[in-house]
Amino acid sequence: MTADQQKIVQYLNEAHASERALVRVLQSQIAMTPSGSYRSVLETHLRETHRHADHVGLRLRALGQGGNPVQAVAGAVESVVGQALALGKTPLDLLRGSGGDEKILKNAKDTCATEGLEIATYTAIERLAKQVGDDETAQLATSIREDEQRMLERVLREIPKLTDAVVRAEVHDDPSYDVTKTGAADAVRDAGHAAQKRTKQTTATARRTARRARKVPGVARAEGQIKGAVASESDLAIARYDSLTADEIVSRLGDLSQIDLAKVDSYERRHQDRTTILSRITSLRGDEPWAGYDELTAAEVTRALSDADEERAGKVRSYERAHKNRAGVLKAADRELTHA
Ligand SMILES: [Fe+2]
Repeated sequence: MTADQQKIVQYLNEAHASERALVRVLQSQIAMTPSGSYRSVLETHLRETHRHADHVGLRLRALGQGGNPVQAVAGAVESVVGQALALGKTPLDLLRGSGGDEKILKNAKDTCATEGLEIATYTAIERLAKQVGDDETAQLATSIREDEQRMLERVLREIPKLTDAVVRAEVHDDPSYDVTKTGAADAVRDAGHAAQKRTKQTTATARRTARRARKVPGVARAEGQIKGAVASESDLAIARYDSLTADEIVSRLGDLSQIDLAKVDSYERRHQDRTTILSRITSLRGDEPWAGYDELTAAEVTRALSDADEERAGKVRSYERAHKNRAGVLKAADRELTHA
């Protein structure tokens, strides 16, 4: 195999890994997105991503590269997500309210970044394949690249609406992200009728959605791990990462959320793989008082604490002290501990 062909195989493997990881990410996003136009975009994107993964996988096999180690890595990333889905235990009420709309907008922005990355990857594959006369790979890359560009356009068209929802939620205190409420409201709007029967059905669907959504925050860390697997230095929460010493990085890890820690972990493993950094991350991660904690505002944590038991309040206090150290949260935790 020539060096060019090896490069093609390498890029196809990268593309395959990111399509497969994206399948899981999209599944978890669908679970937390109320019905409506953005949810349909996500569902189309998921079907398309499955197809891309299959086609790229077939092409790799045709090139005699079916059992490449990179695919094993993708499998591992997937199982991390699966595990997180199984373990997620966050109460639904934590997902309701102001945080949800913001999270959906953030997911949409991340999707744009992922699509941009995929477009670049397929453009490179297209170029190389043409140069070595591998027409079949070139055609595949062209058609997937065109799908990705259309998908990026579609997601970009959703951003203004998702932004409006954040403003409604945060400025006007009218969150659309009350899953049970919104699922019903959206469907009624879409149908153009407020028929009661329809509303009842939708409420049942919304309840199912809500049950699935409950599992979502546990996915944050796995999502970070996936994003880290394709992240570049500038995507990390620590600026100028590559130019810092291990000690400098270690001193900054405490401020990071679980998702950002997972990104750094994944990035570090792919690059310098320094033990001091990785073991500090291990000691910082996984001890969130509950899955999804890092994504909550101080007000949301305080609200969740109001019916917490002593053990949970204690967990919050020690975790909060070691991480964000927000005065409001610490006060609320102390109050619960004194009353308990
Ligand atoms: Fe794709």
